[in-house]
Amino acid sequence: MSEEHSSILDQLEAVRAEALSALQQAQDEKALQAWRTRFLGKNAPVMQAFQKIAQASPEERPLIGAKANEIKRLLEGALADFGEQIRHARLRESLATEKLDVTLPGRAPERGRLHPTTQTLREIYRIFAEMGFQVYQSPEVELDEINYGQMNFLPHHPARDMQATFFTTDPDVVLRTHTSPGQHRAMLEYCPDPIRVVLPGMCFRYEQVTYRSEIQFNQVELLAVGENITFGDLIGTLEDFVHRIFTPDTHIRLRPNYFPFTEPSAEMDVECFICGGAGCQVCKYSGWLEVLGCGMVHPTVLRNGGYDPEKFSGFAAGMGPERITMLKHHITDIRYFWGNDVRFLRQF
Ligand code: DAH
Repeated sequence: MSEEHSSILDQLEAVRAEALSALQQAQDEKALQAWRTRFLGKNAPVMQAFQKIAQASPEERPLIGAKANEIKRLLEGALADFGEQIRHARLRESLATEKLDVTLPGRAPERGRLHPTTQTLREIYRIFAEMGFQVYQSPEVELDEINYGQMNFLPHHPARDMQATFFTTDPDVVLRTHTSPGQHRAMLEYCPDPIRVVLPGMCFRYEQVTYRSEIQFNQVELLAVGENITFGDLIGTLEDFVHRIFTPDTHIRLRPNYFPFTEPSAEMDVECFICGGAGCQVCKYSGWLEVLGCGMVHPTVLRNGGYDPEKFSGFAAGMGPERITMLKHHITDIRYFWGNDVRFLRQF
């Protein structure tokens, strides 16, 4: 055996020892990769030994080939075993340290819901639809002349102070402060036919936000115009409505009031359904809860809408669906309605 080739065999033996001890040092996948390149890669001594076979003498070739193969297989086997050990150790470690409770139930998808005001609005539409009232939409950005003038608020009349106004850069245009101007628009469109409409929508008032008033809120206006409409019709309609939206035994009462667009005008209370009229915190110990404003359409408003007040009469009412929702669900602060707090919204 020549000097050189016997030393190849020795080298291979040395590489085996070196490789096996280096493998014990490898701690992770990255180190294993580096080890593979160093001891089983193209330039690794074992692989180089295969290259050198061709130069060896015919008797030495099988010896070198067999040794190189033996060591290559041994190293591959050691790598596989050791890699497996490392992966198992990693798994045990992560099971011990990363707390993952595979028995936890999955997260149920959240279901969306209608906003409580929307639910009340739909209930109001449904009840009045059953009485023959159609929904009529009118604009949120309104002419000052229609929000006030056509509704019989005289210029400079102190009644304008009942509703603090958001003005726009155009002095003739305001954000509507109530849904009543929709009455005028409905009359212009329906005249001379009879009218039975509800006018829902957002209103705006430049006011201090408190637990009971917001700068932005919904209203639903009620309007009926015809040839023989009486105050009795108004009371009957409201009573029926109250029985359906609250409870069938809810009592109502009317208190005289002033609104420029109705004459006579009244405010309607319902008997407190929390204490049954005995007096509690919600009704401030009065036994009654204020629900809406109403009255017979003022002759001037009828005339402005094209109807002859000698021939036609009408009734109107305006209510706040947020307020009704508060009463129905005992909500004590109107600011929840715009807070978008899902803990509030989820309850309905
Ligand atoms: N527009 C009034 C307000 O916002 C509410 C109202 C009162 C409407 C009496 C009516 C009514 O139609 O007849 O304060």
